[in-house]
Amino acid sequence: MTVLEAIQKRRSVRKYRPDSVPEEVLRRVLEAARLAPSGKNLQPWRFILVRSAETKERLARASADQTFIAEAPLVVVACADPESSYARMGRYMKSWTVDVACALEHLMLQAAAEGLGTCWIGAFEEGAVKALLDVPDGIRVLALTPLGYPADDPDFGGRKRLEEIVFYERYGSFKTSNSSRWK
Ligand SMILES: Cc1cc2nc3c(=O)[nH]c(=O)nc-3n(C[C@H](O)[C@H](O)[C@H](O)COP(=O)(O)O)c2cc1C
Repeated sequence: MTVLEAIQKRRSVRKYRPDSVPEEVLRRVLEAARLAPSGKNLQPWRFILVRSAETKERLARASADQTFIAEAPLVVVACADPESSYARMGRYMKSWTVDVACALEHLMLQAAAEGLGTCWIGAFEEGAVKALLDVPDGIRVLALTPLGYPADDPDFGGRKRLEEIVFYERYGSFKTSNSSRWK
C-alpha cells in the first residue's frame, strides 16, 4: 500500500470490534509515530496506551461521553512535554502541538494501512484525563484515539477541492484553469 492509498483509506472510525491488536501490529503503528518529524528533532511526544476497560470508560466520559472510545481494545492518549519542544516556531510559538499532531497522524496512517481504525478525539477535558492517568504537571494532553478493528465502514466526508485551497505565488492568488494568467 502506498502512503496515498493509506491516506485515502483512513476514516474516523466510531464503531469497533473487541478483537485485540496483535503486538507486532501495535509495534509497527507505534514505530510510525516514533519516526515522525519534530521541531529540532526534540520529539516531545509521549503516548499512554490504555487497555483497562474501566479506564477506557472513564476516558470516554471525560471526552464528552463519546462512548465508542471505550469499545476499542486500546486507547492511545497522545501527550507532550512542551518544555522539551522547539520554542520559536515561526518566531511566535512552541512546536509541541504540531510535533504531536505529526506523530499521531503517522500513527493513524500506519493503523489504516494495517486495517485498523482510529478517530482523533479532541473533545476531552484535559484535567480529567490527566487525573485519570497520573499525567504530571507540565505535561499536556493533545488528543486521544481509540485503536482497534473497525466494526463499520464510514463514508468519506468529502474535502474542499484543490482549487479552493491552493494559491500560487501569493495568498489569495488562484491560477486560472485555462491560461497562465493570474487572478
Ligand atoms: C483536532 C480534531 C479534533 C477532533 N475531535 C473529534 C472528536 O472529539 N470526536 C470525533 O468523533 N471526531 C473528532 N475528530 C474527527 C473529525 O470529525 C474527522 O476527522 C472529520 O470529520 C473528517 O472525517 P474523516 O476523519 O473520517 O476523514 C477530530 C478531528 C480533529 C483533527
